[in-house]
Amino acid sequence: MSYLVLARKWRPQTFDDMTGQEHVVRTIGNAIKMDRVAHAYLFCGPRGVGKTTAARLLAKALNCEQGPTANPCGTCRACTEITSGTSVDVAEIDGASNNGVENVREIRENAKYLPQRDRHKIYIIDEVHMLSGAAFNALLKTLEEPPGHVKFIFATTEAHKLPDTILSRCQRHNFRRISAARMLQRLKEICLAEKAGISEQSLSLVVRQSEGGMRDALSLLDQILASCGPDPTDEAVAEAMGAIDRTVVQDFAEALVRKDAKRVLGRVDEVFNRGLDLKRLAEELALQLRHLFVTKSLGEAPQELAESEQKALLALAKEADTAQLSRLFDIVHGCIWDVSRAAQPRLALEMALLKAIQLSPAGSIPDLLARVERLSAGLGAEGATKSTSGAPGGRSGPSNFRV
Ligand SMILES: Nc1ncnc2c1ncn2[C@@H]1O[C@H](COP(=O)(O)OP(=O)(O)OP(=O)(O)O)[C@@H](O)[C@H]1O
Ligand SMILES: [Mg+2]
Ligand SMILES: [Zn+2]
Repeated sequence: MSYLVLARKWRPQTFDDMTGQEHVVRTIGNAIKMDRVAHAYLFCGPRGVGKTTAARLLAKALNCEQGPTANPCGTCRACTEITSGTSVDVAEIDGASNNGVENVREIRENAKYLPQRDRHKIYIIDEVHMLSGAAFNALLKTLEEPPGHVKFIFATTEAHKLPDTILSRCQRHNFRRISAARMLQRLKEICLAEKAGISEQSLSLVVRQSEGGMRDALSLLDQILASCGPDPTDEAVAEAMGAIDRTVVQDFAEALVRKDAKRVLGRVDEVFNRGLDLKRLAEELALQLRHLFVTKSLGEAPQELAESEQKALLALAKEADTAQLSRLFDIVHGCIWDVSRAAQPRLALEMALLKAIQLSPAGSIPDLLARVERLSAGLGAEGATKSTSGAPGGRSGPSNFRV
């Protein structure tokens, strides 16, 4: 059998298996249990978060021989045919390539007839926002009052492109980006089953790059395993992703906090020589400093990071105060734009990092107040001697102090 990419191999086959999207799974599960399944559903949300998967699961739930059930068996003929896309009663239509009015007319004609074998005739229209205006209009009547045996499930990443007339005839469910922590968990499980020895730290890099999309994460994982083999080192993974090794980023943050200018410059040199993007480095550093700030403020590290990284952050956070971290973040974050624009990005980055190290901290607010008080006490004494010629009304003391 030909190789099946991870994203397809690991398509959830039960609602329980879906990561995140609990709000959708719960509502649909209840509707099935209470026999209140709507005749048209619209699944919207970003790419690769489970819309098509959920549409197929709903089709199985409705047509499973043991059903209708929120836990389709996955083994009966109806279920297996839906999985393989060969069911006679479930049509999966790509809205992008079947977007004309004639395609919709065909659906309308077909919908009149009873299902050939299973309980329902189900039309899954993916990328439904691609239908033409005339096609949408042709769909309205059927969508309003379809025959009892017909169900529509639409999926789209761009719900705002659908006419209101369509939106108002569907039960809409918004799919969310999958949280970093849940995604990391799922990737760990998949790697374990696939016997892939990739570190948690590298997986968290994959998670971050995929911005909540599970398909993106699995495709990236596929690509990494293909190019680095089943037991890749962190460095190899970072290289394969064109990313900067997390260890390097951690080391940078440590050097910045410890004001180790030599180490900072050495690291910039290394990253530069490896041909990696310096703007990306600045972004990674800003993010790492953000993590550090969060860790300092909350007393715990962000959960989406690997355990080893969380520990390192907790330890490093103890070495810095919030004023220092906030200043570091401001300067590093502020330089991202400069680095991306500069004729010599390396120069811009180095100067920003050195400034971040060199500038003395503004100090904490109590410190500042004490300094102001000391200053004003000194000036107050002076002000009192000048009060006759100076401030009107003989005001003296600290109130004479002008900044
Ligand atoms: N919530 C999820 N839980 C587990 N795996 C998921 C989830 N969402 C997506 N995946 C993985 O990503 C693959 C693609 O998911 P799916 O086809 O459902 O995405 P989609 O939301 O329809 O994306 P698109 O908008 O690009 O069509 C699945 O085969 C599965 O491996
Ligand atoms: Mg899809
Ligand atoms: Zn079944």
